[in-house]
Amino acid sequence: MASTCVVGLQWGDEAKGKIVDLLTADHQIVVRYNGGANAGHTIVKNGQTFKLSILPTGILSSHIQAVIGNGLVVNPVRFLEEVDNLRKAGISVGANLAVSDHAHLIFPYHAEEEQQGSGAEIGTTGRGIGPCYMDKVSRVNGIRVGELLRPEHLRERLRSVVPRKNHMLASLSKTAKQFDADALCDEYLGHAEKMKPHITDTVHLLHQALKAGKRLLFEGAQGSLLDVDHGTYPFVTSSNSSATGIWSGSGVPAKHLTRTIGVIKAYTSRVGRGPFPTELDDGPTGIGETIRKIGREYGTVTGRPRRCGWLDLVAVRYSAALAGADEVTIMLLDVLSAVDELKICVAYVLDGQRITDFPADAFLLDRCKPVYETLPGWKVDISGVRKASDIPAAARRYVDRVAALVELPVSIVSVGPDREQTIFMK
Ligand code: GDP
Ligand code: IMO
Ligand code: MG
Repeated sequence: MASTCVVGLQWGDEAKGKIVDLLTADHQIVVRYNGGANAGHTIVKNGQTFKLSILPTGILSSHIQAVIGNGLVVNPVRFLEEVDNLRKAGISVGANLAVSDHAHLIFPYHAEEEQQGSGAEIGTTGRGIGPCYMDKVSRVNGIRVGELLRPEHLRERLRSVVPRKNHMLASLSKTAKQFDADALCDEYLGHAEKMKPHITDTVHLLHQALKAGKRLLFEGAQGSLLDVDHGTYPFVTSSNSSATGIWSGSGVPAKHLTRTIGVIKAYTSRVGRGPFPTELDDGPTGIGETIRKIGREYGTVTGRPRRCGWLDLVAVRYSAALAGADEVTIMLLDVLSAVDELKICVAYVLDGQRITDFPADAFLLDRCKPVYETLPGWKVDISGVRKASDIPAAARRYVDRVAALVELPVSIVSVGPDREQTIFMK
């Protein structure tokens, strides 16, 4: 049966949440397959703004079954907090939310490990994501969501894991926090009671849904360039955040995916450290700051100012190929209305040589200088445009140039956070 995937083709925050929300009407199930509460997906719906970190965006639509797949790392405190906030906002959350028993659990020692360890070096969100994935692959320290339902077993596991964690934390810093296995177990058993109705074998659930002819929508978190294998390593997140993560992170076979939508901003943003060839580091009155202010480019999760720069199509061509994207959507085009003249990066110069293949190796990328094509700006407010035929000529030229350079159709252009501020190009 036909399934769709929405994946970011840059370094995250491409406005994937808005696209997922727009597509829910044609689907019955929305599945997150990677990451955790490091994501921040903003959706503006009926005048209300929702910020979702761990819950799939589909939870906002009453006909959708939302699924947190096995590929995620789940902090029960954040999970329950988000469920509570939604209920307060009038969204019903019950059997419409399933969380995989195979997803891994984040404990407070993960955030402490991140703080005392390499978090600052990478510029992480501080949510314990990396250390939890490290424990997953270590096998001896990983604890899964399903283990919450076996109290005595959970206590035993924590009694064996926590002393190892305390030892490691003490070796990182004399001031590092220490943890008590029994206290943690009691706390997590409290969370287990509330999470229990949602915990299930989501692979089984998804396979049943496919058999019943239901349409699945996969919601990528982060962006392809933050993928632990294919992104700008080591300045990446710890999961497969490109479309490659779908099969492992949900258990749904690749053959079911029939439409892959790559989401890009009309420019580029990045939070945290790492190379960014088209970054506009041009001071408090420069174009970078203008884009940041108008696009409200501050992290949803951490509030950090996002680094902003020109659209990098060398990077996008790479991630679109990686995803096997069928189409791209261009988001936040309205933000560029403030800029006189626009630049699109079409190649790099690396050690004197012009290249058009993206070097995902951070150390090579750091040495790349962008080669730009310049296009005129449009300098008029486009946030009220609703039809492709009403897009000003210069803005249309920008969109067409992106399509030509990425060699993919542009299916949607977004000119504001609201659902209505969307132009369907086909
Ligand atoms: P995600 O993580 O990919 O879902 O993206 P974020 O939610 O972190 O960041 C995108 C931000 O842009 C959110 O605040 C959206 O409400 C907002 N947004 C989405 N589309 C548009 C648009 O076309 N124009 C403007 N100005 N803002 C938009
Ligand atoms: P959404 O889904 C943008 C970045 C962090 C940091 C790196 C590693 O909203 O697009 P981590 O905490 O994951 O170990 O941090 O990844 N990062 C994101 N950047 N959008 C996100 O999610 C991100 N999730 C993680 O800033 O550079
Ligand atoms: Mg975000």
